[in-house]
Amino acid sequence: MTGYHVLEGEELSRLRDPRRDFALDVLSGLSEHHKKLDSRYFYDDEGSRLFQAIMSCKDYYPTDSEREILQNHGRSIAATCSGTPLNVIDLGAGDGAKTKILLQALVELGVDCRYVPIDISEGAIGGLVETMKLDMPELDVQGLVCEYTDGLNWLSSMGDNRKNLLLFLGSNIGNFNKARARAFLRRQWTSLRDGDYALIGFDLKKDIEVLLRAYNDSDGYTAAFNQNLLRRINTELGGTFDTSKFRHYGTYDVFSGAMVSYLVSLEEQVVEIAALGRSFEFEAWEPVHTEYSYKYLERDIEDLASDTGYIIEAKYRDSRHYFVDALWRVAK
Ligand code: AVI
Repeated sequence: MTGYHVLEGEELSRLRDPRRDFALDVLSGLSEHHKKLDSRYFYDDEGSRLFQAIMSCKDYYPTDSEREILQNHGRSIAATCSGTPLNVIDLGAGDGAKTKILLQALVELGVDCRYVPIDISEGAIGGLVETMKLDMPELDVQGLVCEYTDGLNWLSSMGDNRKNLLLFLGSNIGNFNKARARAFLRRQWTSLRDGDYALIGFDLKKDIEVLLRAYNDSDGYTAAFNQNLLRRINTELGGTFDTSKFRHYGTYDVFSGAMVSYLVSLEEQVVEIAALGRSFEFEAWEPVHTEYSYKYLERDIEDLASDTGYIIEAKYRDSRHYFVDALWRVAK
């Protein structure tokens, strides 16, 4: 007997309880003076479906902008990363539609390329691997169901000396505040090797009207996406939210450069949440913060790269200069 016990592997994952984590985050968020809910909880099945609808609606420009970038510059990105066998590691791949443009360019160039999407949702990875295998049968696809950093560490422990191209597309970095974005990129850096690449999608600061339209789309998908968080609390935690009594409000904070989303209570009301054994009071016009979506200046992107150990290889913009895919090289 060693006198201690190391919790790991299956034993550790059995102890993880996503519903309890959700409940605790809702409890702490709604107990604050300025109420908040974490945007990480947007993405259940319905939330993911609504996000797909947002991405294809005319007011939400980031998806079109990044697709244009990959269509126009995918070959150049592929050429830079060619030369040795490559792992294309996709963090937060979604349906993989944009990644496919880049993968096609790599395959056309004859790069020995393995596609490795990583996500903690087994359903998301299972579906994506299946579609990719159907759409690009020539591609080696190896999905990983785990935390991002565990996946990267596992890949580098394989010792097969493949180069890595890490993808973090779609302005997902924008949902982190600037300090968390730095910490995230540094963390990935420690798991990557000298000379590996990262391709990161940054949404740029732009005409405020364009931003406001994108996060208050006229089809109402963004409003439904935010309200879905309340519906999720109802179904998973026994909440009594009436979603029609909360209005989505997306606004732009010029100084921090963030689109900020709120759900605003339209009247004085009390909501019970059975799983927490508690009720929460809302005054009329009281806001609940739900999401930040940070926008970048090109200078911010340069500072972020040099602060976190990367060298900028190239920056690719769309024709409207709304979005940048920045190709960074790991320097160790
Ligand atoms: C996932 N993420 C990059 C989206 C964004 O633009 O911040 C989520 C989103 N929220 C409202 N619309 C889209």
